[in-house]
Order: sequence, then structure tokens, then C-alpha cells
Amino acid sequence: MKDILLVGVGVMGRPYLDAALRLGLDVRYVEANPDDDRAPHTRIANGQEETWLDGVRRAVAERTPDGIVAFAEPHVLAGALAQDQLGLPGPSLHSAVISRNKALQRNAFGMAGISQPAFLQTDSLATAGQWMLDHLPVVVKPLTLMGSSGVELVSDAAGVAEVIERRGGEGRLLVEQAVFGPEYSWEALVRDGEVLFRNITQKTTTAPPAFVELAHRPGYRFEDQAVAARVDELTSGVMRAINVRTSLVHGEFRVDAEGRPWLMEVAVRTPGDYIPEAVSLTWGFDLYEAVLRLSLGLPVDELITEEPVSNAATFFPTTTPGTITAIEGVEEVLAHPAVVRVRLRKQVGDVVERLVSSDQRMGHVLVNAATPEERDAALEFVQQRLRIVTA
Ligand SMILES: Nc1ncnc2c1ncn2[C@@H]1O[C@H](COP(=O)(O)OP(=O)(O)O)[C@@H](O)[C@H]1O
Ligand SMILES: [Mg+2]
Repeated sequence: MKDILLVGVGVMGRPYLDAALRLGLDVRYVEANPDDDRAPHTRIANGQEETWLDGVRRAVAERTPDGIVAFAEPHVLAGALAQDQLGLPGPSLHSAVISRNKALQRNAFGMAGISQPAFLQTDSLATAGQWMLDHLPVVVKPLTLMGSSGVELVSDAAGVAEVIERRGGEGRLLVEQAVFGPEYSWEALVRDGEVLFRNITQKTTTAPPAFVELAHRPGYRFEDQAVAARVDELTSGVMRAINVRTSLVHGEFRVDAEGRPWLMEVAVRTPGDYIPEAVSLTWGFDLYEAVLRLSLGLPVDELITEEPVSNAATFFPTTTPGTITAIEGVEEVLAHPAVVRVRLRKQVGDVVERLVSSDQRMGHVLVNAATPEERDAALEFVQQRLRIVTA
């Protein structure tokens, strides 16, 4: 029996555990808060990046696994180090390191000639004042955070002065020229550098200055063939530039008014926001199982489908800041034939703040429909009927 080690499970990584058990694998996992007794686990002291490697080291000392799956951003380095050292399939330490740092990404992609915004790396925002003025509008972002934390648009000279005043003491930051236009992500399964599966997901975010993700619709196709070709060129170029070997890859890009794609960022890990569940429903195969198989060197070709079979999406409800006085419409939304799941993290009495980061969101809804039109109608229905009332 094949032995798989999962690095990080949390809540969103649970489907890896489900798939591993379903496949009859010998599964173990490393976790800071292990609360799933279906498999043996190695407990680590905290969620710091080095600590994950401490957990992997101890798990490997017990028994060398046949494969390792590193789940999210903090697990990628520990996973890749162990995979490379043990000679197991993995994204490569090269791509894992780049994936963890937005400034490394911009520099590596600059070397590879990838289409991306002009950028400046700074130790102190005050020294970037002139650059920002010369490149307005710009986006300020931290190097290693996620979920849009600390990412903001600065539109004019007054904004530059204000952001320097407010964030001048923050230390290392990345400043980029802002790119406008619809945003997409792509999800790819790569084996030994060869792309076996590729999906484009349409993304909806909050309006600037913050860019919090609110909906994801996989299975997107660009109607304009020239745009589709440029997107293909961008995504292939990115995968070559980071030297990804065997992994699930998740990237983000915007397409400007001239139909040119611009890279936002890339990661050699499982996408967040339940995107893999929406991708799995849309394409009719279990993306988690495919990742497990790739990590073990097992065949995936018969699993992966060629065409979408459905139209799934994830949606994140929003409301105005305040204290929640009522949550309305849950039953009604659950009764909708396209709604698969409603999971809310907030309740009456909880305080909702101004939305500037993904982790503040109040929960999610997963939908799945026969056509893109029905999917969009279902999302519209959810948006109108699921009401989180604040005062
Ligand atoms: N240069 C940019 N131009 C326009 N929007 C951007 C730019 N950089 C980031 N954003 C927006 O902010 C979001 C979060 O930034 P990103 O670099 O993906 O960081 P995170 O790791 O927090 O997701 C992006 O998905 C995008 O919507
Ligand atoms: Mg991002």
C-alpha cells in the first residue's frame, strides 16, 4: 500500500484526507491543530514555516512516505525541501522558493521576459515616493502575505503622501504599477514539467483600494482566440520560468483593455477559496485525487477529463460594517437547486469590519449548474437572498 504524508490539512485541505482514505492509501498528516482522527498525525508546536519542516522531519523519521502533498502557502517550502531530499515528486525547491515571495517572483519573471507590471522593491515606502508618483496608479503589497492582506491601490499624489505616512514604517514592501481589467486565475496539473490539465477561473473582487476575492467561476474560455493564445503563452512561460516539476499550480492574471494578460502572482500549491472543489465539479474529476496520484507517481491520465461537464462557482457574501443583527435567506438559498453548500462563519452579534482581507469574509456558498447562465442566475439569487444584516 502506498504511503502518503499530507503537510497541513486545516479545513480546506480536508478533501485530500477524504481522497486518500477513499483510495485506500496509508495516510498520515502533519498539523498544528490535528482534529481529524481518521488518520495518524504528527503534531507541531505552531504554524511557523520552519515548524512545518520540523513536523515533516519527525514524520519521515517514523517512516519514509512514497509521496508528500504540501497543502497551502506555509507548507510549500517544507514539502519541497523534503520531496527534493527524498527524491519524491514535487514542484521543485526552485519553484517553491519563488512561489513564497512576490519580490522573487517579479525578479525571476523579469529575467524570463514574462508580461507583468513594472515594480519596485523597497525597504521603506518613503524612498519609493518618486517612483510611485512616476508610475501612478500603483499597488502597494507585502512580499509574503496572502488573501489580499496589505494589498492596496494608490491612485494619486495625495494617496502617495498618505500611504507613506501610514505604512512608511512597515519595512520591506513591493510597489507595482496598477493593471486594470478583469481578473482570472489558472489552475494547472503539471507532471515532470508537462502540463496535463489547465483550467481558467473568472474572479470577482471588491472594488479598489482593497481587492478581496468574492467569487470564482472555473471552466472559463476566452472567446477571442488572440487573447486565449496570449494567456497560454503567459501561463506556459510562467511555468517554465519557475521551473515547476510536478505540482498543482495556481496563478493569477488580469487582462487589460487591449486584450493583453499581465501576471499578478503564481503559487505551487492548492488554491484557496474552495476553488479546487469548484474546479472538480466543473470538470467532473476529483482534483485532490489527481494531486495525490501525481505526488505518488501514480497514473492520472484516465482520471483527468478533456472538457468541462458542469458550471460550478464559489461565492463569498459581503455586508456593510457593523454588528450582525440578523442572517436571512439561508433556508431559501439552500433550497435552490444549484446551491450545493452554504457555510457561514459569522453569527448574530458578531462584528463585521470593513473588508480588506480574505480572512475577514463571512463564509461561502458553493453552487453548481448545468449552464453558465444558470450558474450566474444562481449566484445572483444567492447575492440577493442571503442577507447578513448589520447595524
Ligand atoms: N499590480 C496590480 N494591479 C492591479 N491589481 C493588483 C495588482 N497587484 C495585485 N492586485 C490585486 O490585488 C489582489 C491581491 O494581490 P496578490 O498579489 O494576488 O496578493 P495575495 O497574495 O494577497 O493574493 C490581486 O488578486 C489583484 O486583484
Ligand atoms: Mg493572490
